[in-house]
Amino acid sequence: MRLRKVQGAEEKISESPFCIKDPAEKKGQWQDVFKNKAPLHLEIGMGKGKFLLEKAMSQPKINFLGLELHESVLVRGVEKQEEAELDNLLFLRENAESIEEFFEPGEIGHIYLNFSDPWPKDRHKKRRLTGGVFLARYDRLLPAGGIVEFKTDNKDLFDFSLEEAENSPFRVDTVSYDLHSDPVLSQGNIMTEYEERFSAKGNPICYLRLVKGE
Ligand SMILES: C[S@@+](CC[C@H](N)C(=O)[O-])C[C@H]1O[C@@H](n2cnc3c(N)ncnc32)[C@H](O)[C@@H]1O
Repeated sequence: MRLRKVQGAEEKISESPFCIKDPAEKKGQWQDVFKNKAPLHLEIGMGKGKFLLEKAMSQPKINFLGLELHESVLVRGVEKQEEAELDNLLFLRENAESIEEFFEPGEIGHIYLNFSDPWPKDRHKKRRLTGGVFLARYDRLLPAGGIVEFKTDNKDLFDFSLEEAENSPFRVDTVSYDLHSDPVLSQGNIMTEYEERFSAKGNPICYLRLVKGE
């Protein structure tokens, strides 16, 4: 993905009270950071934050964290949160490869992966956030009953992800090749930026829900 550099993004992120600068120091202490004992949900690769802002507004009793690698997109989420000032939403400018440095096992209850980068070349497949190496990381972090939800319009990435999930410790709970046409699954679905863009083009949205067993 080519990204346009946004002037001042780095400063805005480093100065924002909604961006946690030293997440490894918060490991095991996220309830103190949010000043309550609400469950913690994480979106990895949150982009400009539309999904998370709407989630945090609709579920005020859940604490949400958004993790994003690139400042130029994260800054848009930060700007929205600086207007909304939601108590239950914070951001990390970090690489998902390091998530085990930021959370104790069992500390996150739910992981959202929305329109993760496909990394189509075989030599880059280790970077796919739904690959076996990442699923093993999520498995170590989530408690029993913990959930991973994944949405994409990229059928090849979806088929790859489903195969990786079937070979992982997770139980494949729900699979849909057309989320928006499913009357049950589409209820309460919050669309991401990419989801709006690709479903407007007529692309069906694939959906996968994984549950960690006992
Ligand atoms: C295709 S965009 C989707 C953005 C948003 N989730 C949506 O659905 O609109 C994927 C995002 O994941 C981020 N990303 C990719 N790999 C990442 C990683 N290893 N750690 C953190 N973020 C990552 C990218 O920077 C990008 O913003």
